[in-house]
Amino acid sequence: MNFQQKLKNWQDLLNLRLEQALPASSVQPEVLHQAMRHSMNAGGKRLRPVLVLAAHEIFPNPVDPLPAAIAIECIHTYSLIHDDLPAMDNSDLRRGEPSCHKAFDEATAILAGDALQPLAFEILANAYAGDPQLGLDLVCMLSRTAGSQKLVGGQMQDLLSEGNDPDEESLSYIHSNKTAAMIEASLQMGFRVGKEGRNSKKLTQIGRVGHSLGLAFQAVDDLLDVTQTTAQLGKDAHHDSENGKITWVSLKGENEARLLAAQHTENALQTLNAVGGDCQFLQDLIQYMLNREF
Ligand code: IPE
Ligand code: IPE
Ligand code: MG
Ligand code: MG
Ligand code: MG
Repeated sequence: MNFQQKLKNWQDLLNLRLEQALPASSVQPEVLHQAMRHSMNAGGKRLRPVLVLAAHEIFPNPVDPLPAAIAIECIHTYSLIHDDLPAMDNSDLRRGEPSCHKAFDEATAILAGDALQPLAFEILANAYAGDPQLGLDLVCMLSRTAGSQKLVGGQMQDLLSEGNDPDEESLSYIHSNKTAAMIEASLQMGFRVGKEGRNSKKLTQIGRVGHSLGLAFQAVDDLLDVTQTTAQLGKDAHHDSENGKITWVSLKGENEARLLAAQHTENALQTLNAVGGDCQFLQDLIQYMLNREF
């Protein structure tokens, strides 16, 4: 099967499993579950959960990586709902649909994001109860990543830096934490589920792959904000400069940002070589993430 076909199959499978993981819209309070489903089902590339599956496949075993993949997407989608709020990036469009607070209201969007967080941990705890050490490790990895020194810390610094002169140190902190941390965790969680999951050297290596890939990913996100249209992105284009965000583009310009994305991608691929196993799909995915157009 070629790369595109396999990616599509995994995205379809993930959409189905995400659909099953969320409470039905008819469950009380209906509006809350409708809001959670609105943001989750709006689409999205599902790259983090695909990374979980890809990392599991390097040294596969019969343990199901899908719950870990679904849990990561719950945290990611919550982070987007909150990221779009008027108090944060004030974005009206997400995944080609009105963002959650636009389709519903602010309070409902806050609560929909809130509710997606414990759901992620409930999914992990239930799915991996048969191997409590695995379950605990995954819960620890994801909770640390979602917390104040990673994802939320990065989001805080992103807001604190709005309107400031861009500097490399702040930018590197923001990108490492708001974005790269979740991509690192996606690869590490998928790998942890697999056969070599207790090999701490390899687990560290795959984490490094994720870190480089995450830095490339955010550099590309910053570039797409200036090069693409709102229609192409399914989210507001040219929004970073409007919000006074510090990005690689604002710090160094488009060309340097592009070089940097390519360099981080190359680092990710180099580090991946050392991990061994079957990493063909992941290699293709890393390249695809650099060349994406939305
Ligand atoms: C957007 O992530 C947020 C960033 C960290 C840049 P994605 O570009 O993966 O968004 P979806 O999940 O495909 O909507
Ligand atoms: C957000 O970064 C990263 C998150 C943790 C949600 P951005 O603010 O650049 O993401 P977009 O461009 O709105 O998707
Ligand atoms: Mg933001
Ligand atoms: Mg944003
Ligand atoms: Mg962005």
